[in-house]
Amino acid sequence: MMTQLASSEKMASIGQMAAGVAHEINTPLGVILGYSQLLKDDFPSNTEVGESLRVIERQTRACQKIVTDLLNFSRQSESSREDTSLNEMLSEVIAVTEHSLSMDHITIHQNLDPNLDTVTADTEKLRQVFINFINNAHHAMEDMASGELCISTRNSADSREIIATIQDTGHGITKTIRQNIFDPFFTTKPVGKGTGLGLSVSYGIIEELEGKIDVESPVTDPETGDTVSGTAFHIILPVVPKKQHGITTGTCASGKVR
Ligand SMILES: Nc1ncnc2c1ncn2[C@@H]1O[C@H](COP(=O)(O)OP(=O)(O)O)[C@@H](O)[C@H]1O
Ligand SMILES: [Mg+2]
Repeated sequence: MMTQLASSEKMASIGQMAAGVAHEINTPLGVILGYSQLLKDDFPSNTEVGESLRVIERQTRACQKIVTDLLNFSRQSESSREDTSLNEMLSEVIAVTEHSLSMDHITIHQNLDPNLDTVTADTEKLRQVFINFINNAHHAMEDMASGELCISTRNSADSREIIATIQDTGHGITKTIRQNIFDPFFTTKPVGKGTGLGLSVSYGIIEELEGKIDVESPVTDPETGDTVSGTAFHIILPVVPKKQHGITTGTCASGKVR
């Protein structure tokens, strides 16, 4: 409990700091982007200056992406809630990531339960979460001769939750590394490849939905009980959120309505 408490306090203070820094950085980034776009008109892309300006623009956009991730992480960006079909969203995500995965000899297996319950969530944020998991799985398998990515969804036995699993046959996560993977800025990837924000942002989004993320590495085959290499992330989401906000019909608990 002490460790958990210390970790949530750390998350909260890093979140506040991150939100502050992100707000401050957003304005000058917008100015840099604006001026480089203005200058681009005077220098075509086939000139040296034009090429440099395009690099500045690309890198500034990369910074803006980090800032957005930071703001999401600190949950400063507003969330909307709507009925979300996870299967539909996952099929779309698979369609856009399929090509780059197949370039690295990764086969996708999808096993989406057609009777999956809907969840109430911010679909765009959830999409971001699953893209993060798929990207991580991709990174873990890209240096291998081949790999397999299994994406599955199912209802829990008591129908209160849905479980989405993203499983890869990549290099796995050691015990020591596993302790840190949800920490903001924790990455084992080289500079430019990882920001270490994917899982911490995803953690924030899933926590806001009162769900949880389980990590399995190495993975145990549910049928044979065998241990297989790779990693599985299970994302568990409540079908009906416990805390329902907003206007409901019915009487108050006290029975008095003014
Ligand atoms: N599927 C996976 N297989 C192996 N390692 C993983 C996987 N997913 C996450 N990790 C580990 O967790 C770290 C943090 O992930 P993340 O927060 O997404 O940041 P980033 O991808 O930018 O490094 C990664 O650097 C990697 O070490
Ligand atoms: Mg990542």
